[in-house]
Formats: sequence, C-alpha cells, structure tokens
Amino acid sequence: MTEPKRFILVGLGGWGAYWLRQVLPRLCSAGLTAPAACVDIDPGTFPDACRLPGLSEQMCYTDAEKAFRENPADFAIIVVPPRWHERYVDLALEHGLDILCEKPIADTMEGCARVFRKVSSAGRKMMVTMSHRFDQDKQTLERAIRSGRYGELDYLIGRNTWMCRAYGTWGAFRYEMPDPLLIEGTVHHFDIMRSLAGSNARTVYASTWNPCWSEFKGDAQALVTVVMENGVRVFYEGAKNNASSLNGWTSDYWRAECRDGTLVLDRRRLTAVTGTVGVDSVTTEIPLERQEVWMNPWLAEMFVGWLNGGPEPPCTLEDNIQCCALMFAAVKSAHTGQAVDVQEFLRESLEAAG
Ligand SMILES: NC(=O)c1ccc[n+]([C@@H]2O[C@H](COP(=O)([O-])OP(=O)(O)OC[C@H]3O[C@@H](n4cnc5c(N)ncnc54)[C@H](O)[C@@H]3O)[C@@H](O)[C@H]2O)c1
Repeated sequence: MTEPKRFILVGLGGWGAYWLRQVLPRLCSAGLTAPAACVDIDPGTFPDACRLPGLSEQMCYTDAEKAFRENPADFAIIVVPPRWHERYVDLALEHGLDILCEKPIADTMEGCARVFRKVSSAGRKMMVTMSHRFDQDKQTLERAIRSGRYGELDYLIGRNTWMCRAYGTWGAFRYEMPDPLLIEGTVHHFDIMRSLAGSNARTVYASTWNPCWSEFKGDAQALVTVVMENGVRVFYEGAKNNASSLNGWTSDYWRAECRDGTLVLDRRRLTAVTGTVGVDSVTTEIPLERQEVWMNPWLAEMFVGWLNGGPEPPCTLEDNIQCCALMFAAVKSAHTGQAVDVQEFLRESLEAAG
C-alpha cells in the first residue's frame, strides 16, 4: 500500500469549493491523498474547506509562502484565476512539488511558455484539468469516432452558447478580463476538438465581438474555424451573451461528419444518422459509456496514479501546451483579423521563453 500523496490546495472558493466537495473526498477516503494545507486570500472560505476530513483551521493560510514553507507536501492543486497560476507554479517548484492545475496553464501565451520551460527544466510532473473533454458524453462521442464504424472523420461542428450577459453570472473576474470566452470557455472546446479530431491544430481563424447588451469588457461571442494537422476541419460557435443557454456546460452540441455516418451529440443524447432525413434515414441512438467517475474526479485519480508510478495521463503539460497554443493563436487571430499558423506560433512562443 503506497502512502497517501499530500497536497496543498490553492483556491478554496468558486471552483475550489467543487474540488473540496466532489473531487478530494473520494481520493482522500480511498487513502490515495491527504491534505497538507490549503491557501486562499479570503479566510471566509476556510470553514467550508474544513469540512474535508483531515483539514483543520490551523492548516488554512492566507499567506501562501508560509503554507508551502511550513507543510511538506507531494503536489499542489492550483484553483485560482488564471493570472495567478504562474505564481503558484513557481512556489510549487521552489518546494519541489508536482502540480495539478486548473485550466488554462496561464492567462497569456508568454506565461504558458514560461511555465512549460520552468516545469520541464525542474523535471516535475504537471497536469492540467481539462474537465469537459473527460465528460461522459464527449468521451462516448470520441470513442464512437475512433471505433471506425462510421468511417473516416471529415469535419466537426461545435456549439456552446449561454445566457450569461448580466455581470457576475459567470464569475465576476471573467467580466473584467480580456477575451473571456476564448480563455475561460472555449479553451475546453479547443481541447475537445483536438481529442475528437485526433490531431493538433494547423491553423485557426477567429472572429470575436460583444453585442451592445453585453456586460463583458472583453469579447464573449466567437465564430472560429480550425484546420487540424490531419486535415479535419472544425467550425465552432461560442457565445455568452445570448437570450438562451441553448448548449451550456455539460449540454454541448457537437456534430461529427464521418464518411459513413453523421454523429450528433446534443444535450447528452448521441445519435448516428445515415440516409436522407424524412426519406430513407436511419437514426440509431448510441448509449453513453459508463464508468464510476468522469471529469475532475477521474482526472485527479489518473494524476495520483501517475505520481505513484502509473501510466502518463492525458492533459500533461506537454499535451496541454498544444491546447493553449490553439487558444492563444485564436486570440491573436481575433485581434489581428488574420488566420494564425498554430505550430509556428507555439514554436516562436517557446523560443521566446528561452
Ligand atoms: N475545469 C472547469 O470546468 C472549471 C470551472 C470553473 C473554473 N475553473 C478554473 O478554476 C480556476 C479558478 O476559477 P474560479 O471560478 O474558482 O475563480 P474565483 O474567482 O471564484 O476564485 C476562486 C478562489 O480563489 C481565491 N483567490 C483569488 N486570487 C487568489 C490568489 N492570488 N491567491 C490565493 N487565492 C486566490 C478567491 O478568493 C476564491 O476563493 C480558474 O483557473 C478557472 O479557469 C475550471
């Protein structure tokens, strides 16, 4: 029996509360992990955090340096807004910790490239939690495409649209930051595109904007075209200012046009369609795959397995830098009006980071 891996959790409110309620209790009760300390600038988050067995008020800090200095640990879990990720990656590396970080790696491509260089040269393990790609419905669609039953994949259509136009309904910091939809929302969908297509991106063209009724400072509507390195084309619609949440979180729309079948995922219902609808079409319902947990509980379990000498999980830093390159290349495209070569953009960013 291996010793539980001790973690320092940074960020206890917002999504951090989800970690405390839905992810960590399962790992801790299985004896895979144990809390060493936790950190938040808001001490009002401490009482709720202390409902996690093994965590007490004395282990909660507002001073991150002190928390890391006073509590030996194996890894850090970073669940604060993206502009703070690099700071806590630095602190974790300073104390020789591996890292499990919420998406995205950092809030700029320069930051992502610096984190990539620093973690690689320190020889530490880092994984990024791309929750939604690992949800049951997207995994079922991915496996259906990979099964080969519907022939070669030609192109993908994705739609994720919400009614979050009123300030704060999607977390206040997202109404203040630049490019909130692409950086905080579409980042998941860029990763889903990569996994469904089975390829990294070659080029991206993005058009982003805000309608006059938006309360976002940065653009929160987007139409994006991606050409993957294997030739698969993707067209994506994302919006936070709509009148309805037609396809919100966990209710995505994805359509995979394959040679021998059209796979439609819409609000957790997956169907395969052939023939002409209304004439001779055949629609087959594909049941969603089953396993004990999906999303972050599954990702966190894979990460701890990796620390214990198990297989390398998906979404390692090395894999995820491709997702961030696609996302920040889309940001660049939106700001310049030009299509961007994603692989060249990544190469240049990594070179600039030394
Ligand atoms: N995987 C997903 O589906 C998903 C969903 C939501 C959020 N996230 C990610 O989780 C991270 C946190 O987002 P959130 O919505 O919880 O943000 P949030 O604004 O709700 O903040 C989370 C907590 O971090 C604390 N905090 C803020 N700055 C801090 C700092 N410098 N040091 C220590 N604590 C700090 C806040 O007090 C708060 O308790 C982001 O990276 C976000 O992208 C991921």
